[in-house]
Order: sequence, then C-alpha cells, then structure tokens
Amino acid sequence: MLLPSLSILSFFVLLLPRPTTSSVAYCNNEDYASGDLGAAPYQTYNAAPYHPVQINYALPPAFVRPITTYPGSDAEMQVGGYIMNPNGTMVYSTEDFGLNLARGVFTYQGQDVLGIWIGDGVIEPAGYASGINVLLNSAYDVVATINASNLGVGADIHELQITSNDTAIIAAYPTTQTDLIAYGGSETGYVANPVVQEIDISTGEAIFTWYALDHVDLSDSYAPFGTTETGEGTIDAPWDYFHLNSIQKNDDGTYLISSRHCQTLYLVDSTGDIIWRMGGKNSNFTFGKGANFAWQHHARLRESGQLSVFDDSGTQWEQEASYSRGLLLNYDDLAMTVSLASARTPFNRSVTVSQGSVELLSNGNSIVGWGAMPYYSKHDSNGAIIWSAQFAAAGSGVGAYRVFLNDWTGRPSAPPSMNISASSVPGNVTVYAWWNGATEVTSWQLFGSTLLSPLQATSLDNVSKTDFETTLTYSGSEYAFFQVGAMNGNEEMLGFSNFTGLDGTTCSKADNQTVTAPSL
Ligand SMILES: *[C@@H]1O[C@H](CO)[C@@H](O)[C@H](O)[C@H]1NC(C)=O
Ligand SMILES: *[C@@H]1O[C@H](CO)[C@@H](O)[C@H](O)[C@H]1NC(C)=O
Ligand SMILES: *[C@@H]1O[C@H](CO)[C@@H](O)[C@H](O)[C@H]1NC(C)=O
Ligand SMILES: *[C@@H]1O[C@H](CO)[C@@H](O)[C@H](O)[C@H]1NC(C)=O
Ligand SMILES: *[C@@H]1O[C@H](CO)[C@@H](O)[C@H](O)[C@H]1NC(C)=O
Ligand SMILES: *[C@@H]1O[C@H](CO)[C@@H](O)[C@H](O)[C@H]1NC(C)=O
Ligand SMILES: *[C@@H]1O[C@H](CO)[C@@H](O)[C@H](O)[C@H]1NC(C)=O
Ligand SMILES: *[C@@H]1O[C@H](CO)[C@@H](O)[C@H](O)[C@H]1NC(C)=O
Ligand SMILES: *[C@@H]1O[C@H](CO)[C@@H](O)[C@H](O)[C@H]1NC(C)=O
Ligand SMILES: *[C@@H]1O[C@H](CO)[C@@H](O)[C@H](O)[C@H]1NC(C)=O
Repeated sequence: MLLPSLSILSFFVLLLPRPTTSSVAYCNNEDYASGDLGAAPYQTYNAAPYHPVQINYALPPAFVRPITTYPGSDAEMQVGGYIMNPNGTMVYSTEDFGLNLARGVFTYQGQDVLGIWIGDGVIEPAGYASGINVLLNSAYDVVATINASNLGVGADIHELQITSNDTAIIAAYPTTQTDLIAYGGSETGYVANPVVQEIDISTGEAIFTWYALDHVDLSDSYAPFGTTETGEGTIDAPWDYFHLNSIQKNDDGTYLISSRHCQTLYLVDSTGDIIWRMGGKNSNFTFGKGANFAWQHHARLRESGQLSVFDDSGTQWEQEASYSRGLLLNYDDLAMTVSLASARTPFNRSVTVSQGSVELLSNGNSIVGWGAMPYYSKHDSNGAIIWSAQFAAAGSGVGAYRVFLNDWTGRPSAPPSMNISASSVPGNVTVYAWWNGATEVTSWQLFGSTLLSPLQATSLDNVSKTDFETTLTYSGSEYAFFQVGAMNGNEEMLGFSNFTGLDGTTCSKADNQTVTAPSL
C-alpha cells in the first residue's frame, strides 16, 4: 500500500470555486480515508491518457454534491502537477513534462504564467534535486526557462518566485567539502551547501548568489549528523545541515530565507548579510504564546508586519507537537517580538513530517497544503476551517509540496484531442473529446464527413462538458470521418481537433476552420 516514491511530487493548483451542485468528488468517504479504495484513488477516462487524483472531501464544502461510486481501477495515479476544479474534475495534467512539480501561477511580463519544475529525479530521502523551471503562458507554450547559474547543479525543487522586476528566485543544492570532525564526521567531510540565486530570466545570469555555509555555522543545525535522513557527511550523502526550503525576495531588496534544519527564518540584505534571525539557536526575536514554529516551510512576509509560515513541528525523525499548523504571525522588528495572529489546524489533527504551504487569499481566507499529509483545506480569516479535502489515504506516501487556489485561464495552442471508440461501427459511432488545460470549454460539437476532408464537415451532435473528457455519439451510417470542436458559453469556437476516420486515418483541421472566440 505504501507508495513512498510518490512523496513530494504531486501538486495542485485549483481554480476559484464557482458554486455547482455536482462533482466527481467523494465526501466524507470512510473507505477512502481508511485506504480500502487504494492508497491513492484516482480517476480514469474512456480514452484520455490520464489518471489524476480522486478527491475525497473529508470536511465537505457546500458547493459539492458527493459521488458514491469509485471510478478508478488498479493502476497507480499519475504523479506530477495538476490543475483541478474544486468539484474534483481535472483541468490540466503536467504529465507530458515527465518528472515535474507544478509551482502555481505567477505574473511574468505582465501576463499570468504557470511555473513547472522539470528534472530527472529527486535525491531521497533528502528531497532536493537538480532540474530546471519553465514558465508556460495561457497557451501552455514555454515563454521562459530558468536554471541555476554557474553552480555545477541545476535549479532545485524547493522554490520559484517571479519578482515584480521579472527576475526569478530559485534554490540550488551544491555540495561543499568541509571539516566535520566536531560532528563525528571526517576532516574531509561533505555538506549540502544550499544556494539562493536571483536569476535575470532574459540572460540566464545570476544577479545574486548566497551560499548558506558562508553565513550560517554548522553548529546552528538541529539536524542529527550521520543519519539516513540527514546524511552521513560523505560525498554521496552530504550532511543536509541547513535544508533551504523557501525564499522570498521583497520589494525593499531583502530576501527572506527559510532553513528547515536550523529552524530559522533569515532576513538577508542585498549584500548577503543577515539582518535578523527568527527562530533557531540564535534568534533575534522573542516569541509570544503559540507563535513558535519548528521544521517550518513556505515563509512569506506580508504587508504591515505580518508573515505566514507553515509550522510542521515535526520531521521524519522527531515530533515537537501533536499536529502541524498554518500560521499568520505579527512581528515587530524594533521590539524584536513575534506574536500569534491566527493559527490554522488540520481537520484530522496530525503532524506533517515534511513540506506544507500557507496561501493567504485577498479576502483574508487561506488555503493550507498539509505537505506529506495528503490534505488541503480552506480557512476563514480567523483560521477556522471551512472545508478540507484529501487526495490520497493518510500514510500512503503521497503528498503535495505546496497547494494553491488560483484563478487561471488556459487556451492551449495544441489542438483538442479526440478518439473514436474501438467498438465504433457505421451506425454506432462513439467519439471521446478532451483538451488538456483548456478552461473555457462549455460544450463540444461533433462533425462528420464522407471524405477525409474537414472542408465537408457537417454538425452531428452537441454535448455539454461537465468532466475532463466528453462522449459524443453519431448513430447514422453516412459519415466515416469525424472531428470535434470546443465551444465556449457564447457558442464561439475555441479550437478544432484533427480529423479522424473510422479506419484510423487522420488529417489536420481545414485552414478555414477558424476560432471565433476573441483571443485571450
Ligand atoms: C465542475 O466544475 C467546472 C468548473 O466550474 C464545471 O465546468 C463542471 O461542469 C463541473 N462538473 C461537475 C461534474 O460538477
Ligand atoms: C541546468 O544547469 C545544470 C548545471 O549547470 C546542467 O547540468 C543542466 O544541464 C542545465 N539544464 C538545462 C536544461 O540546461
Ligand atoms: C526591483 O528593482 C528595483 C531597482 O533596482 C529595486 O529597488 C527593487 O528592490 C527590486 N525589487 C525586487 C522585488 O527585486
Ligand atoms: C541579532 O543577533 C545578533 C547576535 O546574535 C546580533 O549581532 C545582531 O545585531 C542582532 N540583530 C538585530 C537586528 O538585532
Ligand atoms: C486520521 O489520520 C489517521 C492517521 O494519520 C488515520 O488513521 C485516520 O483514518 C484518519 N481519520 C480520518 C477521519 O480521516
Ligand atoms: C483510441 O484509444 C485507443 C485506446 O487508448 C487507442 O488504442 C487508439 O489508437 C486510439 N485511436 C485513435 C484514433 O487515436
Ligand atoms: C455502441 O458503441 C458503444 C460505445 O462504443 C458501445 O458501448 C455499445 O455497445 C454499442 N452499441 C451497439 C448496439 O453496438
Ligand atoms: C471552407 O471552405 C470550403 C471549401 O471552399 C467550404 O465549402 C466551406 O463552407 C468553408 N467553411 C467555412 C467555415 O468557411
Ligand atoms: C451544434 O451547435 C452549433 C452552434 O450552436 C450549431 O450550429 C449546430 O447546428 C448544432 N448541431 C446540432 C447537431 O444540433
Ligand atoms: C494532427 O495532425 C497533424 C498533421 O497530420 C499532426 O502533425 C499532429 O501530430 C496531429 N495532432 C494530434 C494531436 O493528433
């Protein structure tokens, strides 16, 4: 039942919820929660080659009506990034990128873009990696590629931020040789020496590079030396003394850096000097009741002396509390005090041993991703829980690094996809239509032709879209070649698929089959 290789690789971006009375989500399904439906229940389609997560609302919102039948079978759910509607239907799978992590929606050159990290593998159990980030526009075309610069390793998975100056903030995990005798290692030991880089996206050059070991002593670490989880101090298993897991560049030019293993947030100036340390062995701040965090993730300074942080309060090897929290903290950098503004607690209270995120929405509500615990939840401005969804059984090894709720409009440059059911015969034709990433489609239109030529296409069927894949049918025997068109709510055409025959032959759409919907 354990799928440990899935850890940290699944990820969600959600659209803003629109009230709807139906869904493909479970609500409060005990068989799902207990793992009786499988470690990671997933959805399947008739022809679309995806099997995304199946959501179970452990604490259901008002906008979903539960389903009761389990649509999956025995394969594994696909690992990677997803955009899901709140009702559990899939919008987009990043499957085509191979091993990847979806990062959420950013603004780049004035446009909404989707960030995706792509790599060959994650170094387990440390959880860092070498790869690249790409930014996709609303057509899902790559508009930028972001790598680390001159570090000998590529961009790590732990952070991507696109600043208001259109630069990229990333992490990278090179290894440095150093004396580890004081910790029980060798004089020529090795540590993971994570780096913060700010990259000029247009040139790929680094305009800021900060190595942890240049600024933070090994003795500040709480990570035990020489364990499987934190490394033995060798070149193959360097000691992960710092574990950089979030970076935020602020408009005043400072960087907020989170070290999980030093349990400290560092505010760093543009020369790299540390301005203050919050938490850990040398904290500049004193903490009010309930404001402490440990093994934290996803720290973000907010306006007016507030910051949000995911307080794991636990790791794979130790726990400081009985459950993790999503925190909003008040901080005063003159009095050097931190106090609790509000705390978000998980529906099924338990400790998240890694990962996690806190997203503040503009109305004061928030979305918490519970990291290694396969849950995310929505909270009101006081932190009280509104709903909680699970996307795998607890203890399955499936988690999400961060979870965000975003508005996102996508109209892929690739055409819609279709498939003629293998059992189709003249007189009984079934066509499946889908378009990975398209958000505007409200109905599908089926066209038929007697020739392998979309120029002669006749409209045969119109079907409303309610799930990722839509089934269209034709019961006559006149046509042998078919095509689907995706339409928006104004019955304007968004895109045409290729043209496919019952005999499997295909050709492109006709040049005069044009999109009538206004461009985005
Ligand atoms: C799910 O939500 C999407 C977006 O709001 C909507 O288009 C679709 O009809 C809904 N499907 C179901 C099954 O509720
Ligand atoms: C990213 O940088 C690393 C280190 O220089 C390099 O090995 C890797 O090939 C680069 N990735 C791409 C896609 O260029
Ligand atoms: C943007 O650039 C300006 C001018 O160099 C600088 O003052 C500001 O700190 C930068 N902001 C960010 C978020 O990098
Ligand atoms: C933070 O503490 C260090 C010593 O631990 C001190 O040198 C530094 O001035 C303090 N910073 C602030 C902003 O108080
Ligand atoms: C709560 O979590 C525990 C393990 O973390 C699990 O055994 C239990 O089934 C969960 N309960 C519910 C209601 O989800
Ligand atoms: C339709 O899907 C089936 C099953 O995935 C596949 O074997 C077949 O090649 C597809 N047909 C077309 C025309 O894409
Ligand atoms: C028509 O096609 C559908 C889907 O391919 C199939 O389920 C059904 O059995 C077929 N009906 C007849 C009468 O062949
Ligand atoms: C496309 O061109 C063909 C042949 O010239 C014509 O029959 C058809 O009506 C045209 N379709 C549209 C949508 O203009
Ligand atoms: C499908 O809808 C389109 C656009 O409203 C219309 O032109 C077409 O005639 C419809 N097709 C059928 C078979 O009803
Ligand atoms: C559509 O047809 C074109 C030309 O035949 C082909 O290059 C392309 O791969 C096809 N696309 C899909 C999604 O089948």
